[in-house]
Amino acid sequence: MSAVTTASTRAAIEAATVRLRDAGVEAARVDAEWLMAGLLGVGRAVLAANLDHELTPTLAARYDAAVTRRERREPLQHVLGWEEFCGLRFTVTADVLVPRPETETLVEWALSLLPPPGGIRRLAIDVGTGSGCIACALAAARPDLEVVAVDASPAAVQIARRNVSALELGGRVTVREGDLLSGLGRLRADMVVANPPYLPAAALAGLAPEVAAHDPLVALDGGADGLSVIRRLIAETPGWLTAGGALVLETAGGDQVPESAALMRAAGFSNIATRRDLVGVERFIAGFLPSTEDGGG
Ligand SMILES: C[S@@+](CC[C@H](N)C(=O)[O-])C[C@H]1O[C@@H](n2cnc3c(N)ncnc32)[C@H](O)[C@@H]1O
Repeated sequence: MSAVTTASTRAAIEAATVRLRDAGVEAARVDAEWLMAGLLGVGRAVLAANLDHELTPTLAARYDAAVTRRERREPLQHVLGWEEFCGLRFTVTADVLVPRPETETLVEWALSLLPPPGGIRRLAIDVGTGSGCIACALAAARPDLEVVAVDASPAAVQIARRNVSALELGGRVTVREGDLLSGLGRLRADMVVANPPYLPAAALAGLAPEVAAHDPLVALDGGADGLSVIRRLIAETPGWLTAGGALVLETAGGDQVPESAALMRAAGFSNIATRRDLVGVERFIAGFLPSTEDGGG
């Protein structure tokens, strides 16, 4: 493990790339560039145009410290302190799951399943909000939408509130601490959306170091079959939805999709639909309560 002492940005990135590759980091060059871009407060495109920039000894030392953290397999986003999600920037720390690109598909799909804007306020509940990424992305895309975001982790609630405030969504996004929907009183929402913990306990051992050692366990662990939180959430959700309201979930895919579909049917949902993620795995599932026209509530 050699320190980054070289003075040019290009040479520092090249040396860091070798270190990260040796440490088993998959996208070593990209990460070395992001760490430098983060240090200089620019994007990667600006960085690419300034590779001959001379690093001061102070900047070289700070870059070395950042590379060392990544070399120890801390997630890139923890070292940078942020991640982009649906075009918005979210503060991330070890207290929240790093927002994943596949969850952007969940948000896009959820937006398409909401009733169209029509002059009345709509309400969504984001269960297990973590960084607040789903709640904020929904609210940013739909000015008629209020979102109640809930998480069982007090530390995650603090980060989510910070993100809501930084994105100036505090007028429409409220973050609460609680176990699933149980603490939310008499709310009736048009949609409940969640990216819950869904990994089967046996899968936790095989995770990459960035996930296993740095994402919070409460964000990952779905119990023996991965469905322990999903099972409870599907059973509870009808009590917090309006007639015709939708439950939209991310799952691990595979058997969890038909199993979630069966749980949804048993809880009174119909018109169950699924979506594939960015690499073609079917893992998102939605169901609807009967609308008033169908004879529902
Ligand atoms: C997979 S993470 C999703 C975080 C964020 N929504 C995202 O998509 O990046 C699951 C989240 O659910 C929260 N969680 C776990 N069990 C919960 C429960 N019983 N009630 C509320 N939140 C819970 C965790 O603290 C974690 O923030």
